[in-house]
Amino acid sequence: MTETLSLPHVYREGSGPLLLMLHGTGGDEQQILGLADALDPEAAVLAPRGQVTEHGAARWFRRHGEGQFDVDDVIVRAAQLADFGREAVEVYGLGGRPLVAVGFSNGANIALATALRHPDVLNDVIAFSGMYPFGDRELETRLDGVRLLLLNGSADAMAPADSVSTLERQTLAHGADVTRISRNGGHGITEPELETAREWIAAAGRVTSH
Ligand code: MLT
Repeated sequence: MTETLSLPHVYREGSGPLLLMLHGTGGDEQQILGLADALDPEAAVLAPRGQVTEHGAARWFRRHGEGQFDVDDVIVRAAQLADFGREAVEVYGLGGRPLVAVGFSNGANIALATALRHPDVLNDVIAFSGMYPFGDRELETRLDGVRLLLLNGSADAMAPADSVSTLERQTLAHGADVTRISRNGGHGITEPELETAREWIAAAGRVTSH
């Protein structure tokens, strides 16, 4: 069942956790289903597609260059994704069901931007190879109740450790619960990171259901 909402998307019912899957640059809502399956083949999945294109590659927001985000656009697109989340909850009757956002790369960055500005819609985020999405701007929103799992390679030129440190520092200072795990290597997703994410999703479900 896929309804017409403000973003093209896939919605797949499942008996497991509800995952909002956000693809990276050049991916789409079909390609990211593989990551959902690797996390939990029983997951219910909501997977929208980013509406920006860069040389034909779908993305979530504009950038001026690698790692140089158009922060005004990040803010607009995060609000659009939050609106999409609200619509989907209503149309698919998902109210009360914990929603965990899972993003890779550009998808991690929009997941983070959305949770950090609209924690009423998204408060659990797993960010694979993500970074601080707001450039040199400070966070404005209190983040009590927001839980972030940051999984990064320490030598990732696309998501530099300095930016991940800014993300960690700013979100902790605003009250978020942040787990940051750094491994050797660069941009990507490793099997141990998938295992960490599975455990974190199981724990998030237990906390939210209280
Ligand atoms: C971004 O633009 O969000 C990051 O640089 C990652 C990517 O290349 O998509």
